[in-house]
Amino acid sequence: MAENLIVADGSKKEKYELLFKQIAAVTDAENNTIANMANITAMIHQTFNFWWTGFYRVIGEELVLGPFQGPLACSRIAFGRGVCGTAWREQTTQIVPDVEQFPGHIACSSLSRSEIVVPVWDGDKIVAVLDIDSEQLATFDKVDQIWLERIVELLYK
Ligand code: SME
Repeated sequence: MAENLIVADGSKKEKYELLFKQIAAVTDAENNTIANMANITAMIHQTFNFWWTGFYRVIGEELVLGPFQGPLACSRIAFGRGVCGTAWREQTTQIVPDVEQFPGHIACSSLSRSEIVVPVWDGDKIVAVLDIDSEQLATFDKVDQIWLERIVELLYK
């Protein structure tokens, strides 16, 4: 499949609606998880021009860097550490409007100002997290949470 991503004009919700349909089409056509993670990061990143968009996968007691778009990032994050490790431990999406106010935030890039981390479930187990960083404060809200949680559900259906 070789198609160009279409980015909707309009609100964040409208962008996510069209993005979701395109991600669903791509992930329906492919059953390799890494390939799907790679395309999901590319499609989210291109739609919103975030600073960094990527997956960390649970491997043993750590999160290990997976497919991503954006600058160089930390390779490994321990359980419960940083925003990513907290999302894994708490088993819930973390929305951080100002990373400097988040105790234990791991600064992979000094330009990152706000962040959202969404757990990825395979059945009843968290197997990865989706981490997105923005150069602006307070970029992420409930709309991002709802849509990103829907998007990562497409990985292990
Ligand atoms: N800030 C994250 C680390 C990963 S990077 O942002 C890509 C954290 O605190 O878990």
